[in-house]
Amino acid sequence: MKKYLLLVLFAAFLVMAGCKGKTSENQQPTQGSDTQASGAKAKWIIGMSQCNLGEPWRVQMNADIRQAAEKYPELQVIFKDAQNDTLKQQAQVEEFISAGVNLIIVSPKEAAPLTPVVAAAYEKGIPVIVLDRRVLGDKYTCFIGADNKKIGQAAGKWIVEKLGGKGKVVELKGLMTTIPGQDRHSGFVQGIKDASGVEVIFEADMKWLEPNARKEMESALARFPQIDLVYAHNDPGAHGAYLAAQAAGREKDIIFVGIDGLPQEGQAYVKQGLMSASFEYPTGGKEAIETGLEILNGKTAEKEITLKSRVFTKENIDAGGEWLAD
Ligand code: FRU
Repeated sequence: MKKYLLLVLFAAFLVMAGCKGKTSENQQPTQGSDTQASGAKAKWIIGMSQCNLGEPWRVQMNADIRQAAEKYPELQVIFKDAQNDTLKQQAQVEEFISAGVNLIIVSPKEAAPLTPVVAAAYEKGIPVIVLDRRVLGDKYTCFIGADNKKIGQAAGKWIVEKLGGKGKVVELKGLMTTIPGQDRHSGFVQGIKDASGVEVIFEADMKWLEPNARKEMESALARFPQIDLVYAHNDPGAHGAYLAAQAAGREKDIIFVGIDGLPQEGQAYVKQGLMSASFEYPTGGKEAIETGLEILNGKTAEKEITLKSRVFTKENIDAGGEWLAD
């Protein structure tokens, strides 16, 4: 009874906070949280902790969640933005636990530090869907994401072919304390392993961020008179590298490859001819809501839901890209 009362008070507080000044996802929501509109008749409250809203891909994930949830009046989603701060994200999950939400969706910043709090929720009986970046171990209800190793490997193979088996490559990595960063790297290494002529001459951790990628690329350009290709772990990284190359007057000599493939970002860059390939990394927002609903209705979800991915190139983009082989 006490728990129920707490939950109702918490929801009411968030609705009030939400009414005061949100809801454009491009702005920082008031008090770092924002409540989906349809709340009043909601039977279930879902707490969603997003690692940051500074990157277009994450804004898209929240929009996908919101759009999917709007179809179900029995759902209310409370969005929280961790602003790329691991401690803040831990606190958000803890708040969801003490409020007794019915289900938690978390898209973690980093694997290790988020693992204990996700496990705590799971052990208290609150189902947790981990989206996109993994936590460690298996104390969560369901993981949803695409296969980053496979994407990295497909990118590696595509690059070998594009370079005709020979060339100098810069690798701009996503945050290496995250599993997608690690997997996009190891998959790539796997994909180029038989091509001894493809040489990685410079690698740096740009932590998923365009300004960092630009700076790292400036260093690479200063050190190496010949760079044939940039493999960036996400499209903002590829775009940052492109801008650095453009400022140095070398963008026409370099091929840019990235990952995410959002229509308004990677796909647009491919259409503009600024990037040669973007590998899709679906947000999984819709799947998270649908799976969440099944769990709330007492069904058992698969522990692991793997989303499919496409590659977009100039040749295939008008036809909707090409699915990666299984
Ligand atoms: C956004 C992002 C995406 C990337 C994903 C990996 O924060 O960097 O660009 O694909 O996270 O977790």
